[in-house]
Amino acid sequence: MTFRFRLQATDGMARTGVIDTPRGEVRTPAFMPVGTAATVKAMLPGSVRETGADIVLGNTYHLMLRPTAERIAGLGGLHRFMNWERPILTDSGGFQVMSLAGLRKLTEEGVTFKSHIDGSRHELTPERSMEIQRLLGSDIVMCFDECPALPASDDEVARAMRLSMRWAERSKDAFGDRPGHALFGIMQGGVTQELREESARALVDIGFDGYAVGGLAVGEGQEAMFGVLDYAPGYLPTDKPRYLMGVGKPDDIVGAVKRGIDMMDCVLPSRSGRTGQVFTRHGVLNIKNARHQDDPRPLDDQCSCPACRGYSRAYLHHVFRSQEIISSMLLTWHNLHYYQQIMAGMRGAIAEGRFADWEAAFHKEREAGDI
Ligand code: GUN
Ligand code: ZN
Repeated sequence: MTFRFRLQATDGMARTGVIDTPRGEVRTPAFMPVGTAATVKAMLPGSVRETGADIVLGNTYHLMLRPTAERIAGLGGLHRFMNWERPILTDSGGFQVMSLAGLRKLTEEGVTFKSHIDGSRHELTPERSMEIQRLLGSDIVMCFDECPALPASDDEVARAMRLSMRWAERSKDAFGDRPGHALFGIMQGGVTQELREESARALVDIGFDGYAVGGLAVGEGQEAMFGVLDYAPGYLPTDKPRYLMGVGKPDDIVGAVKRGIDMMDCVLPSRSGRTGQVFTRHGVLNIKNARHQDDPRPLDDQCSCPACRGYSRAYLHHVFRSQEIISSMLLTWHNLHYYQQIMAGMRGAIAEGRFADWEAAFHKEREAGDI
């Protein structure tokens, strides 16, 4: 079987469908848990699947440094290595170099940088990023791009976008023809509509299996991000998946889907699980807070995750305070389960033409207060 996107229903700008891959289906809108270092931290792969995830994200940058792409390839690829046989999308590395690496040098050719782990020197180019993602065996490969650090001038945003479009062309050439594997382009252009349109045209001219909206959720705020999402998906083909990179909080995700986004990833539910931040239908609560220490109730009495079925807030407060490993396990599971419940709720609502009602109920539940 080959890679294919089947759009099944639309409701306003919101869409639902299925991405077919040789490793299984991805139901959209899809949330992809982040498995940066070949693990969704604190979760077994089977548990990630139980939360409802169809696909996870991996990172070129981290895996090339440790344990190296060649080593993973020698061990049978990333799926076998991390014991996740379903689809994997890998980010291309440029974004992580800019946020994590030490000393960096950017040229037309690519970027050289020092590892944040041991200071060793490395180079990433579009060609090398495609090679690493092929060695990993990634199902959905991302183009190598540059996401400028904000705040940046219009000239700087335009320069980075145009460089990313030249790199997109080199990424496509280097990716070649790989049936069953997909290559996604990444739109850049900051919050400037003309630059977003220019970027989309350049990508569509090259032609990709899917299109990402990059360069958002980098400090511009939700209003500015939604401002871009009010027009950006409209520049992209309707018959290919659209992926909003690195987003976000539950209300960001709902707002993005409303505006025509099909896929998202974010560390928030998993990272927050380790810092005691819990996402619920009624909003965010922090399990560290002393008000939970005698509370016999679950995090959410309507949640069917293991943390809510088996444990009180008092217990979760206790194990968090005691820095017990089960705290990260249970809170991460709950957060990922909640995110996947949102996605499933949106998919069902879009399919039945009641997204607006679903969205109103989502916001109303959050306003009900007292968590
Ligand atoms: N993750 C979040 N934003 C971006 C982006 O603009 N580019 C890439 N490659 N990854 C991202
Ligand atoms: Zn739960």
